[in-house]
Amino acid sequence: MRTTLQSVQSAQSLDDLYPLLAANHLTAGWHKKRASLWKTPNTAFLPRHWSYELGRLALDQAGRWIGTELAERRNLLLFNPVGDNDYDTVRTMVAAYQMIKPGEYARPHRHTPNALRFVLDAKPGVFSVVDGVQLPMLPGDVLLTPSGCWHSHFNDSDSNAYWIDILDVPLVHLLEPMFFEEFGQAHQPVEQQPLSHPFWFQSAQVQSELNQAPQTGGVRRVPLHTADHFLTQALNFIQLQPQASTQKHRSTASRIFSVAQGSGHATVGELQVTWQPGDVLAVPSWTEFEIRAHETSLLFEVNDEPTLKKLGFYKESA
Ligand SMILES: [Fe+2]
Repeated sequence: MRTTLQSVQSAQSLDDLYPLLAANHLTAGWHKKRASLWKTPNTAFLPRHWSYELGRLALDQAGRWIGTELAERRNLLLFNPVGDNDYDTVRTMVAAYQMIKPGEYARPHRHTPNALRFVLDAKPGVFSVVDGVQLPMLPGDVLLTPSGCWHSHFNDSDSNAYWIDILDVPLVHLLEPMFFEEFGQAHQPVEQQPLSHPFWFQSAQVQSELNQAPQTGGVRRVPLHTADHFLTQALNFIQLQPQASTQKHRSTASRIFSVAQGSGHATVGELQVTWQPGDVLAVPSWTEFEIRAHETSLLFEVNDEPTLKKLGFYKESA
């Protein structure tokens, strides 16, 4: 310490001082390598599109060699190709395509991150079990497994089942409150098989709410009532009439869109893509986007607005 103090004392210039500061884990605020403040949001994440046709084929192929015993979950992560990232889809959320074969059981566990499933293809007989409650997974359904809930999935049908997982794992990585626990048994005991449940949004129910929702410019929106269980993310279904669009918009929220039905075109920042059922779009923070339908279409949106709003960081511009 004495020597260090003497070295600092004998510095003859800033150039003498900088290496001494660095050696003691100090850096001069006027001499830092990177800006720490900027005028407007400057996301590192890229607008991206993923094809379900490709994801499904790749899962079928992987299914020849990898089982749920070995993998715990047979899924493909939709990573944003930025820096050395190989996990996050957008800053706060990760999406994955998951497949489970007939007779398979994806074993129970629980964790801090909130998770949801949006079912793409499944025959009757596919279920999630959430804290002992068995919930069917049928195409178009959304199922929640909120933070800390035990969850497992199994397929008693005669066909492969496919869904999209969306979790707030990247947010948990940023804030660092991660806990993860194995259930300790291969299967989760089933205590209830209800006909409805706050963690289960059935496609038919969503469709009937859409039919009653007001239509503006050919667009109907139905928010899912998740705020009591899901604190970090908001979920919406958006129905577009042919040629209708979401209108150009940007906000400080990050968004992931999954296509439930139909086809169309999207502009997300510099990215121009066409989309079809099962495809996924990543809309990073403060990136202008417009999604236009070619035919009557249904989108499922997950965004991190609740996180930003609770923190006072939500802003948007039309
Ligand atoms: Fe999980």
